[in-house]
Amino acid sequence: MDSTLGILREGYPFFQKKFEKQNTDVLKTRLLLRKTLVVRGEEGAEIFYDQQKFKREGATPSRFKKTLFGKKGVQGLDGKEHVVRKKLFMQCMSRDSISSLQHHFEVLWRMQIPEWRTKEEIVLFDEVEKILTQAGCQWVGVPLPEKDIRLRTNQLSELIDSSGGVGLRHYKGRRARKKAEKWIEALVDKIRKENKQNPEEASILGKFSLHRDLNGKLLDKKIVAVEILNLIRPIVAIARYIVFSAMALHEHPQYYKRLRGKHENLDLYFVQEVRRFYPFFPFVAAMVKEKFSWNGVSFKKGRRVLLDLYATNHDERNWTNAGIFYPERFADWDGSAFNFIPQGGGDHNHNHRCAGEWITINITRAAINLLVKEMDYEVPKQDLQIKMSRIPAIPGSRFRMNIQ
Ligand code: HEM
Repeated sequence: MDSTLGILREGYPFFQKKFEKQNTDVLKTRLLLRKTLVVRGEEGAEIFYDQQKFKREGATPSRFKKTLFGKKGVQGLDGKEHVVRKKLFMQCMSRDSISSLQHHFEVLWRMQIPEWRTKEEIVLFDEVEKILTQAGCQWVGVPLPEKDIRLRTNQLSELIDSSGGVGLRHYKGRRARKKAEKWIEALVDKIRKENKQNPEEASILGKFSLHRDLNGKLLDKKIVAVEILNLIRPIVAIARYIVFSAMALHEHPQYYKRLRGKHENLDLYFVQEVRRFYPFFPFVAAMVKEKFSWNGVSFKKGRRVLLDLYATNHDERNWTNAGIFYPERFADWDGSAFNFIPQGGGDHNHNHRCAGEWITINITRAAINLLVKEMDYEVPKQDLQIKMSRIPAIPGSRFRMNIQ
């Protein structure tokens, strides 16, 4: 049976229910008319990240390349080519570099508070996406004049929002991708023409623009644009985790109180539980490189395989009472690279695990501290329901608040 319609109808828990009903960690299905296997759980994730068994080339359906990812970016590379490109990303993730992004973010947030106070209500999601666009551009070295903030925020937001969409939502994403890539390509041209920057001292944009690949050639400017958007776009995506955090603080006021006072690492456990509990990326995809079998199922060469991130983060074998929001569980977490995988699993440098995981944790943690320690606000009645059929998920009202 093709599962495409089922996923559109039920969203995140679609396969999870089947895994549990059939008491298995591997399902055979069809997706977008193609035979597909879906795996879950700590062991399933460990197999999925084994590079002897899987590759990424050809795994991502083209509708996602036209919206969320772009073409020829790091996500689709394998082997040495992947390691070299990934290094470019990981070089941006030093402690100092992440602190500087966090600093931009906090300064921009604090600057907004007086203006928020003058308004009857703000929509947290919209405000935070705008702040993250500005912080991300500043961090990467992409100039963003005041008059363009709204335009660029909307484009980046549409790239993310279109990822699970069909029809209009998908087409908005395609249009946004074309425009956003053109914007960055022009900046790459400029840097290359001026030819003044020393790659060592250059901004992140400069480093990517002047990077030479395995053959010693500059990257195609289209690829540089895709990769720069692979940094700025997911920074904007953190707005979803910040909204989920605000929801969790609202729905579990005991944590709001405790986070306002003295605590040890509760803010970190809170962020981790937000990333485990709330839905974001449902799956990642790969192709079988060499035939093998696992759990009695044959994984044929060339078969597409999905790793169900949502089902793994809600797997009762690792997460007791997985449907309950309970940050303290992270005090005893074993730190496994495969049982808690909201941003992929395995090793950050050698696997496809998210390059921006530490950024995501730090920025979400900073936002929680800003919310509980530096602002007073009320949360009016609103539609805070998260529809599990909508990918990527977001509460209906996008979190309205009244700042005092
Ligand atoms: C990859 C999720 C934030 C940069 C990924 C993957 C997921 C993910 C699921 C794929 C893992 C795989 O294919 O095995 C998220 C979520 C985020 C987030 C939910 C927070 C909202 C970030 C940030 C950055 C970033 C802040 C950078 C500033 C990347 C890159 C890759 C990636 C470059 C590709 C890595 C590779 O293919 O080797 N992310 N991410 N992400 N992410 Fe993130």
